[in-house]
Amino acid sequence: MDILNELETRRERARQGGGARRIEAQHAKGKLTARERIELFLDEGSFEEFDMFVAHRCVDFGMEQDRPSGDGVVTGWGTVNGRLVYVFSQDFTVFGGSLSETHAQKICKIMDMAIQNGAPVVGMNDSGGARIQEGVASLAGYAEVFQRNILASGVVPQISLIMGPCAGGAVYSPAMTDFIFMVKDSSYMFVTGPDVVKTVTNEVVTAEELGGAGTHTRKSSVADGAYENDIEILAEARRLIDFLPLNNRMKPPVRPFFDDPARLEPSLDTLVPDNPNLPYDMKELILKIADEGDFFEIQKDYAGNIITGFIRIEGQSVGVVANQPMVLAGCLDIDASRKAARFVRFCDAFEIPILTLVDVPGFLPGVAQELGGVIKHGAKLLFAYGEATVPKVTVITRKAYGGAYDVMSSKHLRGDFNYAWPTAEIAVMGAKGAVEILYRSELGDRDRIAARVKDYETRFANPFVAAERGFIDEVISPHSTRKRVARAFASLRTKNQTNPWKKHDNIPL
Ligand code: HXC
Repeated sequence: MDILNELETRRERARQGGGARRIEAQHAKGKLTARERIELFLDEGSFEEFDMFVAHRCVDFGMEQDRPSGDGVVTGWGTVNGRLVYVFSQDFTVFGGSLSETHAQKICKIMDMAIQNGAPVVGMNDSGGARIQEGVASLAGYAEVFQRNILASGVVPQISLIMGPCAGGAVYSPAMTDFIFMVKDSSYMFVTGPDVVKTVTNEVVTAEELGGAGTHTRKSSVADGAYENDIEILAEARRLIDFLPLNNRMKPPVRPFFDDPARLEPSLDTLVPDNPNLPYDMKELILKIADEGDFFEIQKDYAGNIITGFIRIEGQSVGVVANQPMVLAGCLDIDASRKAARFVRFCDAFEIPILTLVDVPGFLPGVAQELGGVIKHGAKLLFAYGEATVPKVTVITRKAYGGAYDVMSSKHLRGDFNYAWPTAEIAVMGAKGAVEILYRSELGDRDRIAARVKDYETRFANPFVAAERGFIDEVISPHSTRKRVARAFASLRTKNQTNPWKKHDNIPL
């Protein structure tokens, strides 16, 4: 009996982390503790802990007097809606969640298990960085984690939840995971903080401006989503996991659905305005195609000219990439190309079929774009689509001009189904631009130019020229889009396509 009591006493001590005072301080900042986060994130009662009694081995700076069980990180596994997930959650109440050699070993243990057993890793980051008392042993610990992030990439989904500080080299572990979510106001990520920035460059900036959730979801694109508080971020991470396969050898999960795959949407017949220069909201089309209008958007606040995220069709996960005419007329630019390329590669790595909705007037012109390397960044998206072997269904709603037509999952990049609405305009460029180049000498004659524009529109501003060549498989009615897309993906469930053997490709980074 004494032994059982001792076990319970030891467990209770470990559960207390850094003690009541520090737990209170954590709560006062609006943050949950490491254990509370895990409890909320996993299915009730499903958490199984590893290494609860691990303690650090540091004997410098009097550390041997203070060896809390668990060493500042809670690790283990459990389920999300019944599906296996590995978790680690840094405990800020123990040495500020700082990473020691043993703390790193705990994280590495569950990452190794996740890779071996094929299940996602979810990391809850809340840490003051390298355990200062441990020096290089701590740096080695980080590198061991980094190495596993790299090996796990493309094998199991990795999700980082930034729920407190994440600074210095510590940022590079989340940076190599598939998705980064941040909590607004209580989390930040930067390589060097405001004080160092001030010393080196004399720039004065707050932690929030330098690395808060707003900065990373709107400006740097380091993070994929910003959430109000710990509860919301954990709930949304669960929602994301529901779309993903456990590993790269499994298909994404199939959920029960209560939405007719053949549902017709008459309102889509008038979605595209008569005036080709007027925008419309591409999200409306996404929501009307999706089962139950459920859309999980990735990088919602960044590069709004392209939309990326997950939906389900007939209960099956589908990654959506869509030009958004409401922002920059839906042009592709550096930011949009990078955003979409990474998303396409994630989908391809994890066998998630891709639906591409196209309304793109081309690449955004400008000195800033060219000097910023739009050639290389645009090529990322082209490359990502071209190498992807998952089922690819494309619907052109309106413009598909120039190189951007090729890039957006065209037939020529092994698109499986390439549909167009009757409103589609598939051409090298818009009629006005084309006429100004072809008939430069007639530019003074407005009537003549207007006639030329009309003529060009009649001949090229339609889907039929492309359809005649088989570049478009079928011109479909907008109201039947969900049905057609659902049938297309259903027919592709047995798709089997491979690329030539290579060690790995050399995507233009
Ligand atoms: C050991 C640490 C620690 C660390 C915090 N603590 N960071 N202990 N190593 N890195 C301890 C504090 O001593 C304190 O202990 C408790 O955690 C809470 O810290 P506070 O400072 O009281 O909290 P707060 O005011 O909220 O400030 C949080 C903080 C600050 C901004 C993160 O603690 C801080 O600046 N810490 C140092 C950050 C840092 O320089 N880390 C190394 C970066 S280099 P008590 O006992 O009082 O509760 C790095 C390289 C990684 O990380 C390289 C990877 C390749």
